[in-house]
Amino acid sequence: MRFPTSTQLFSLPLRSTKPPFLRASLVYSRMASSSAFQALKDSSLIKTQGFIDGKWIDAKDGGKIIVTNPSTDEELGTVPEMGVAETKEAIEAASKAFKSWGKTTAKYRHDIMVKFFNLMTENADDLARIITLENGKAFAEAKGENTYSASFIEWFAEEAVRTYGEHIPCAFPGVRNVTIQQPVGVVSILTPWNFPSAMITRKVGAALAAGCTTVIKPPPETPFSALALIELARRAGVPDGVINVVTTQKNVSEVAKEMCENKIVKKVSFTGSTPVAKLLTGMAAQTLKKVSMEAGGNAPFIVFDDADIDQAIEGAIACKFRGTGQTCVCANRIYVQSGVYAEFASRLADRVAQFKVGDGLTDGTTHGPLIHHRAVEKVQSHINDAVSKGAQVLIGGSKLPRPGSFFAPTILSDVPSTALLNTEETFGPLAALTKFETEEEVIKLANDTDYGLAGYFFSRDIGRVWRVAEALEVGMVGTNTGMISQAQIPFGGVKESGLGREGAHGISEYMNTKFIAFGGL
Ligand code: SIN
Repeated sequence: MRFPTSTQLFSLPLRSTKPPFLRASLVYSRMASSSAFQALKDSSLIKTQGFIDGKWIDAKDGGKIIVTNPSTDEELGTVPEMGVAETKEAIEAASKAFKSWGKTTAKYRHDIMVKFFNLMTENADDLARIITLENGKAFAEAKGENTYSASFIEWFAEEAVRTYGEHIPCAFPGVRNVTIQQPVGVVSILTPWNFPSAMITRKVGAALAAGCTTVIKPPPETPFSALALIELARRAGVPDGVINVVTTQKNVSEVAKEMCENKIVKKVSFTGSTPVAKLLTGMAAQTLKKVSMEAGGNAPFIVFDDADIDQAIEGAIACKFRGTGQTCVCANRIYVQSGVYAEFASRLADRVAQFKVGDGLTDGTTHGPLIHHRAVEKVQSHINDAVSKGAQVLIGGSKLPRPGSFFAPTILSDVPSTALLNTEETFGPLAALTKFETEEEVIKLANDTDYGLAGYFFSRDIGRVWRVAEALEVGMVGTNTGMISQAQIPFGGVKESGLGREGAHGISEYMNTKFIAFGGL
């Protein structure tokens, strides 16, 4: 197989000074055209321009990206199609701002971040509505995402004031060994559409707390959430140039290259697919930048005979169908031991039959559409492939006949090990069940993948809980729970699921440890 070109890779369905900072700036941006945004309490949160050095700006050549609502296929508005020239300007603005932001006290940054967190909480309904409109997820889930997203800002504000150094006993007399933590500098941040808000704050929170400045490339599908957040950060007092946003779609390969190769940039943080993570890491390697890559997953979800089946069903619903199956920690392969297989399959189907799939802003909707029609085609192709190899459809199985990119929540049983979905992340509402007999057999199946982000299993045998948790080749394990995501955990993978950790320990990825020997005592 030929290695895809960078343009092909980026088009894959992916799943981004008054004393010194108190000066008020006259900042405005044009409004989006869509009436969908008119229901916002504060419609000035909708920005339709990029943000560089504290100014809302258009693309130099006037190019635009059309953003659509996946529930209706209708246009929501446009943002600029920026390119390399705007990216260079954003990097230079971040570099200029770093000279002062990097020297602020941790307490100063903490206080601004607390204001930012409070603004996210006060504007929760509007921010959630924007998420639902551009990503499609149900409004209640979008509210949950805003809470999750704000928690990164709150938690990293607390981290900012705990970036301790250390004193290390010295081998020589008259010398003292000390380390200090310093911000790395300008950080490039590239984010996905599946969490239009939380994937930005997970990175920007760490960067701001550490004293870094940033250039963000939000995804073209969901730029409005990113721009609304940046407006709130600005209102909270984040100074000009500390956060810059470059929106792009067609020019993404060149923009990403600049963000990864420009010598001024000292770190790249990305969440998205494994092929793109490899490409960006290669670019960043030219100047040996620090990288954090949160890449694809192919999570195993295992139910043992001794599991609490109620817990396992609820875990599967949360883990498999969160975001309509579009999270990189979603269960992709569900292995159920033979003694409980039939009961688990039929009870899971009963629960899934109760889902209300629809426009995320309609009351009662539990699950929204997929992000676009390419995603629908991929889910369908995984189902067709598994069925052609012997799997059976228990519920769902096809696209819903209505406008928007809706797919019926689907359960397949008797999925053979040769099915494509065992090696490729589906990123959709497809629960694929496979029967197994022994612990040894299922560990082998679970680890038979190049990915290693998350894994889940249900068992009430304490010995097995330890054994299996240690044996799964993943960065994060959920035992007797399908929900692991929080700001406070070391989020990240092993194998081809990524490099580095976000959340807990995440701030150290944005700081350098400097050693200082104090001699002549
Ligand atoms: C992701 O899907 O990339 C992140 C999921 C999470 O934070 O729970």
